[in-house]
Amino acid sequence: MKIIVTGGAGFIGSNFVYYELAKHPEDEIICLDALTYAGNLETLADAEKNPQFTFVKGDIANRQAVYRLFERVKPDGVVNFAAESHVDRSIENPEIFLQTNVIGTSVLLDACRKYGIQRYHQVSTDEVYGDLPLDRPDLFFTEDTPLHTSSPYSVSKASADLLVQAYHRTYKLPVTISRCSNNYGPYHFPEKLIPLMIINALSDKKLPVYGDGKNVRDWLYVEDHCAAIDLIIRKGREGEVYNIGGHNERANIDVVKTILHELGKPESLIEHATDRKGHDRRYAIDPTKIHNELGWLPQTKFEDGIKKTVKWYLEHQDWWKHIISGAYQEYYHDMYSKKNVLEYAK
Ligand code: NAD
Ligand code: TYD
Repeated sequence: MKIIVTGGAGFIGSNFVYYELAKHPEDEIICLDALTYAGNLETLADAEKNPQFTFVKGDIANRQAVYRLFERVKPDGVVNFAAESHVDRSIENPEIFLQTNVIGTSVLLDACRKYGIQRYHQVSTDEVYGDLPLDRPDLFFTEDTPLHTSSPYSVSKASADLLVQAYHRTYKLPVTISRCSNNYGPYHFPEKLIPLMIINALSDKKLPVYGDGKNVRDWLYVEDHCAAIDLIIRKGREGEVYNIGGHNERANIDVVKTILHELGKPESLIEHATDRKGHDRRYAIDPTKIHNELGWLPQTKFEDGIKKTVKWYLEHQDWWKHIISGAYQEYYHDMYSKKNVLEYAK
């Protein structure tokens, strides 16, 4: 197969590139990525040594550039990871989320119609289902849970999902959609909860926990997500949505304490920050469908995955120090001064 992987210079996309190159060495992977603040070519340095891999810099919302690429490459499949992905940024500036996540998806779908593909896969999120109450641990998101979005980010992802389903119904485009819970692991951009807390703790900076810290996320090790997508694009049924998650629910405050414990740092580093606007309370995925249909099960337990992740950040300090040395400082200062985190400028 010849697969265009969009957003492959980001967190999950790059992990997927490495997963595919190792699992299907006969496949060709073409990564299309605009290299926004979240994209990083250093992440793909090893992939670039592989003759089966090609990197193309480009914006998925640029119709001409996307059509040119499809015409040249004639892909069998497209896996769309490219997105603006940070909820806090979407609250500050929604427009780019609509541009990339909705318009970008529509351009990719049109290119797939025009040039023909065997499979278009949309990488979506459990956030399209909204949130669940903390006092109903019996409730989970299934594929039939109505879309009920909270943030501009989740609106843009749900809109893209609806467009993908419309292209299936209207044009019979062979599509699949996966909706995954929160990922963690190598190459996770430092603005997100787990890497941010590891990096701050390593520098003895304050760990800004939003609100009461009781919000619950359902954490999945990134390699398990990649394995699920690999199964869906090869064996999943056209037109179907598959939820991906591993029943690893944790309150944010407990995740942060686990990280401090792993690093031997004191809990006094925790600082409660102003809560995120519209903060979703709990996400929890029911992965029964992907398990029953495709035999997928997560391989990494949270206790092991978090240890591996902390170790990865300890061993790859150059990777994240390059990122946080530039525009990231300005982002951190702006975002966390608004959240009343006193130590942000340290
Ligand atoms: P990320 O922010 O780490 O990476 C996004 C990548 O997309 C970057 O390489 C960036 O340069 C690229 N990109 C952004 N705009 C682009 C554009 N217009 N054209 C081409 N490339 C562009 O994101 P991530 O965490 O790896 O998430 C990947 C996908 O998975 C997203 O679609 C996200 O919604 C979804 N998802 C993420 C999670 C999670 O926990 N991180 C969970 C479920 C689903
Ligand atoms: P995040 O990693 O941004 O993922 P998402 O919002 O997509 O779930 O945040 C995970 C949780 O951690 C979320 O409940 C918000 C919270 N959080 C903090 O408490 N402090 C922080 O500095 C960040 C970035 C997130």
